[in-house]
Amino acid sequence: MSAAEYREEPSKSLKPWKETSVVGKPLPRVDGYERVSGAAVYPSDNVLPDMIYGAVLRCPHAHALVKRIDTREAEKMPGVRAVITGKTAGAGVDWPYATPAKTVKTKLFEPHCRHEGEEVAAVAAETPYQAWDAVKAIKVEYEVLPFVADHKKAVEPQAPAIHQGGNRVGKAQTYARGDVAKGFAGADVVLEETYSTACELHTPMELHGCVAKWDGPRLTLWEPTQGVFAVQSGIAEVLGLPLANVRVIGHYVGGAFGSRLRAGKYNIIAALLAKKTGRPVKLFLTREETYLCVGNRPPCQMKLKAGVRKDGILTALEYSALGASGAYPAGGTGGLDWLVRDLYACPNVRTETTDLYINAGPARPFRAPGHPQCAWALEQMMDALAETIGMDPVEFRLKNIPPYSQARGNIPYTSTGLRQCLEEGARAFGWKEARQKAAESRGSSHIRRGVGMAAGLWVVGGGRPPATVVVKLFADGSANLNMGASDIGTGTKTVMAMVVAEELGVPLEKIQIENADTGTTQFTTPSGGSKTVPSESPAVRAAAFSVKQQLLAMAGKDLKVSPSELELKGGSVGVKDDPRKKMKIADISELKGRGVVLGVGSRGPNPENQWVTPFSAQFCEVEVNMKTGEVKVLRFLGTNDSGRVMNRMTFECQVFGGITMGIGLALTESRVLDGNQTGKMVNRNWHDYKLPTCLDVPADMVSLPIELDDPACNSAGAKGLGEPATIPTAAALANAVYNATGVRMTSSPMDPLQLCQALASRKEG
Ligand code: MOS
Repeated sequence: MSAAEYREEPSKSLKPWKETSVVGKPLPRVDGYERVSGAAVYPSDNVLPDMIYGAVLRCPHAHALVKRIDTREAEKMPGVRAVITGKTAGAGVDWPYATPAKTVKTKLFEPHCRHEGEEVAAVAAETPYQAWDAVKAIKVEYEVLPFVADHKKAVEPQAPAIHQGGNRVGKAQTYARGDVAKGFAGADVVLEETYSTACELHTPMELHGCVAKWDGPRLTLWEPTQGVFAVQSGIAEVLGLPLANVRVIGHYVGGAFGSRLRAGKYNIIAALLAKKTGRPVKLFLTREETYLCVGNRPPCQMKLKAGVRKDGILTALEYSALGASGAYPAGGTGGLDWLVRDLYACPNVRTETTDLYINAGPARPFRAPGHPQCAWALEQMMDALAETIGMDPVEFRLKNIPPYSQARGNIPYTSTGLRQCLEEGARAFGWKEARQKAAESRGSSHIRRGVGMAAGLWVVGGGRPPATVVVKLFADGSANLNMGASDIGTGTKTVMAMVVAEELGVPLEKIQIENADTGTTQFTTPSGGSKTVPSESPAVRAAAFSVKQQLLAMAGKDLKVSPSELELKGGSVGVKDDPRKKMKIADISELKGRGVVLGVGSRGPNPENQWVTPFSAQFCEVEVNMKTGEVKVLRFLGTNDSGRVMNRMTFECQVFGGITMGIGLALTESRVLDGNQTGKMVNRNWHDYKLPTCLDVPADMVSLPIELDDPACNSAGAKGLGEPATIPTAAALANAVYNATGVRMTSSPMDPLQLCQALASRKEG
C-alpha cells in the first residue's frame, strides 16, 4: 500500500453527528463478560514461564537515614535469586519526581527516607513467600529523625526540615482579579470560615505493580496503568534506554483514579531484578504498601471569605488553601482554587495556594485533583450565604451563573450547562418540596431529615492532541480498532467501538480492539483528566471516516458512480438516491484484492478562544441520628452537562461511581497518621481505612444528563464526565447535614465521632 493511501482527517473537518444509531445507547461493555467472568487477564494475573517474584524492603520509620544495610543473610536464604540496594551496580539511579521535578534530587533507593514505606532494598525469589522472608532478613541500621506528620505544623520554626530549604514546595501560587477590598466594602453580608478535608487514599481494586521481562536489550512490562506511553518514557528516562527498547502493555486496569498516570519505582525495581536474574519478575505491592507509597488526595486546609449583596450578587471572594503533597513534590495544591476562580460570576477574587512537605507518602492526582476540596469550602459557603440573605440555595446559584471563563480572561465556554444542571436537577429531584417536607418533619425526633445540594465544574477543557488511532476494515466487513488509550474501567473500549460502529455500520461484535500497548498501538496521552472520551473519540471517528471515504471510492469504481453519490449503510455501499444500486462490502473488487482498508485518524486542536468545560450539580437527602452521629444517605441525584452522552449505561456508571467516591470523602475516608509518637500510618488496610460499602450508598441514585449540543468542542460533541461526577458530592452532603442539624461541618469526614462532638459543642455553646 502506498503512503498516499493513508489519509489523515483532523477532527476539525467533521461536525458532530446530528442523529446517531449506536452512539448514546445504553450498551453493555464490549469486554463485560471477560471482566466479570474472570477471563480477562489483568497485568496482576499475568504468569510467565520461569517467572520469579519481587518484594521490597521499605523504611518502617516516618523519617530516617539509612546508615548501613547488611544483605548477607538474605542472599543465602532458600529460593533467593537477587538482592539489590542503592549500592548494587545499576541501582544507584536517580528517581525523578513530578512537578517541580528538577528541584528535588532523590534516588531510587534514597538513603534519606522521608516517609514511611520509602524503598530501601529489594529481593527476587522463586516464590512470593521466599521473597518476603528474605526482605525480613535484611538488616538495616537507621538513624531515626524527628518527623512532621501534620501539615498545620510543617511550617512552624521547630518543625524538622524534610528537604533542604524547608517544608514549602516552591512559592505560594496566587491569583487575583478586581479589587477584593472594594468588593467586600460593597457587600451587604460578609462571611468567613475555615474548612478542612482529610487525606484520602487511592484504593483501586487491582494493586500497583508490574511484570518485567527482558529479551536481550529489550524490556517488556505488563502494568495496569492509565498511560502505557507515560510509563514507557518514565522507565526509558531512568534506565537510559531508547524508547523503542521499552514496551509497556496494559490491556486491563483494575481502577486507577489518578494514581497510575506515570511510572512507579516498582517498575524500575522489577526491571533491575529481572535483569540481574535473567528471569521475568513479578512485583506487585501489597495493599499496605499501596496505601503508604502510591499516592493520596492530600489533606487540605482552606480559608474562605465571601461577600454578597442582599439581592444575591456575589461581590468578592478571598481564599487561601494549604495542601500537603507529602514527602516529595507531587502537585498537592493543583486545582485547589479553581472553583473559587471560575464557578460563579464574581468581579473581585483573590486566591493563594501553598503546598507543603510532610513525612508521608507523596500525593498523586486523585479524581478531580483539588476540586472536591475546593467545593467543600465554596459550596458550603454558598449555602451559608444563601441562608444569611434568606434566599434559596438553588436560586442564589442561578443568580451567579458565569457568562464566560473569568479565570481565563473572559473567554466563552463552548457550552455552559450550569443553569440547566441547577434548574432541571432541582425539578427532577423535587428540591423545593423535599426541603419543605424535611423542615416540617423535623419536629422533636432524634432522626432528622436534611436536603442539600452543590454544583461544580471541571478545569480540564476536554481532550487535546496528540492522539492517533488506526481503524482497519477487513474484506469481510469486520473491523479492527487500534488505539493507545487505556480503558481504566470507564468503558473506553466500548465507547470507541461504538464510534466505529456509528461511522462504518459494523456491529460491535465484529470489531476487534487492540489497545494500550506501546509496541503495537499509536501514541496518546494517559487516560486521565476526564479527557479520554473527548480526546480519543474524535481520533477514532476521523480514522473510521477515512476508511469510509476510501471504501466509497473503491465501490464507486465498481458501481461506476462518483463516490460523493454513495453512502455506507448496513454493511453495503449504495447510491443515495437509488436504493437498487448497491453492493455488499465483501463484494467490492478492490477491497477483495487488497484485503483491508486502513484509516488513520488524529485529534485536531480544541477550538481557539473558547473553552471546553463540563458542569455538574448534585442534590441529596439524608437522615442524621442526633444521638449517634450517624448519617444515612437516602438519595442522590447527579446532573451533568458533559455534552453528548456517548453511552447512557457507562455514563450512569461514572455518575454513580463519582457519587460513591464523594460519599467516602464526606463521611468515612481519612488517612490517620500517628502525629505524636511515630508518624506512622495507623489505618493502612481495608478494615481500618473506611471506604463506603453498598450499605453506605443509597439505592436511590439518579443520573440526569443535560445533553446540550456542543458543535464547537470536538467532532464527538462530548466534554468529559469522570471527574465532574465527584466534585460536588461531599459539599452537597455537608449542606444536607447542615439542613438536618443546624451544625456546619467544616472538617471532613463527617463521621459519627466528629458529628457527635459538633452536636455536643453546640448544645454547650
Ligand atoms: Mo485523573 S485524577 O486525571 O486520573
